[in-house]
Amino acid sequence: MRMVDMIAKKRDGGELTTEEIQFLVTGYTDGSIPDYQMSALAMAVFFRGMTARETGDLTLAMAGSGEQLDLSSLQGIKVDKHSTGGVGDKTTLVVAPLVAAAGIPVAKMSGRGLGYSGGTIDKLESFAGFEVERTREQFLQQVRDIGVSVIGQSGNLTPADKKLYALRDVTATVEAVPLIASSIMSKKIAAGADAILLDVKVGKGAFMKSIEEAETLANAMVAIGSQVGRKTVAVISDMNQPLGFAVGNALEVKEAVETLAGKGPRDLTELVLAIGSRMLVMGGLVTNVEEGRKKLEDLMASGKAVDKLAEMVEAQGGNKQDVYDLSRLPQAKLIHTVTAEQDGYISEIDAEAIGHASVVLGAGRLTKEMPIDLAVGLVLHKKRGDQVKAGEVLVTIHANEDRLLQSALKEMEGAFQISTAIDGDQPLIYKIIE
Ligand code: URA
Repeated sequence: MRMVDMIAKKRDGGELTTEEIQFLVTGYTDGSIPDYQMSALAMAVFFRGMTARETGDLTLAMAGSGEQLDLSSLQGIKVDKHSTGGVGDKTTLVVAPLVAAAGIPVAKMSGRGLGYSGGTIDKLESFAGFEVERTREQFLQQVRDIGVSVIGQSGNLTPADKKLYALRDVTATVEAVPLIASSIMSKKIAAGADAILLDVKVGKGAFMKSIEEAETLANAMVAIGSQVGRKTVAVISDMNQPLGFAVGNALEVKEAVETLAGKGPRDLTELVLAIGSRMLVMGGLVTNVEEGRKKLEDLMASGKAVDKLAEMVEAQGGNKQDVYDLSRLPQAKLIHTVTAEQDGYISEIDAEAIGHASVVLGAGRLTKEMPIDLAVGLVLHKKRGDQVKAGEVLVTIHANEDRLLQSALKEMEGAFQISTAIDGDQPLIYKIIE
């Protein structure tokens, strides 16, 4: 087999065989296929696309390119959740303990964030002492003991994807749907998922800017799931405004705990219930979404969902008191409010601008090495569609340095649009693809 023939075949609109895809993934991982040939192939895929069969084969080949997590010693169907990412997205912090409290085993590897605020792992480090690096055995034992563990990505999972993603980043081929879909799905499969719930974000603060793009990506991932025997459901949800009120690590943790207690923002609660209830169905715990929803609402109301997070925090080296007394989380030194200049209705809250402001404050990182400040961020007081009077607070900024606070204020100029009439309601969930 020769890589040059595969490039030519794809360039001319042909379909690669399973063996050819395995050959190119193996060769690229071990270095026998050079970057320049892989770049040419990625560009050919960008223009010619891939069939569902090719995309499924690419996914499995990448999932198998390195270590794979074996979760078979855990009882039950392991349902993983993935979000394509957005501003204020703390869904995993809520969903993981919530579905675990219902009886779904959650053995989750999560990332640190690049961009708007930290990733789930950064956020969890708001609990002093919380350990995100665990041995495989500690990780699995914790799930056997208490039903949930969330740790950082470790081990040599999907090296082919790591290399290919970095290459795509510098060859203008990130935006090829089969490549994005196989990249995401290969990581979930290597992390041991039997079933996968995808939260595909769409809007100004998301990777996918239009509903059409989000739907194409969601369809591609659901098709891969059925191709490779992993039940996959995709929820397409709004990211034009931040999710919930809080943006920033400890601030988001606080909001996540409030949501677990059934006292969270409406949009976050709704999304968590939509995602969590489907995970219960996929895990075989309930027969329909309504039953799942009811179960999750009961766990929130009874305090069992918060208790499950507290158990996880303690099992991973933190102090469970931090979950019950949120004033123990990191706090910023400077609190500054921004108020409305006119009466009206909030017609837009620019998620991207809010995200940039949080990065400027130090809540997110632009390079992998950048440290983050867990205490800083923003808390919205209003959401799209809310009525507001001149002088009312729109957002509170939590900062640790005045210089950064001033820069964040600049980033946020114009982020809140106020109009005299209510706009049509924009949905939180656009579509669910199963
Ligand atoms: N996220 C991924 O993990 N992979 C992609 O290709 C794009 C976004």
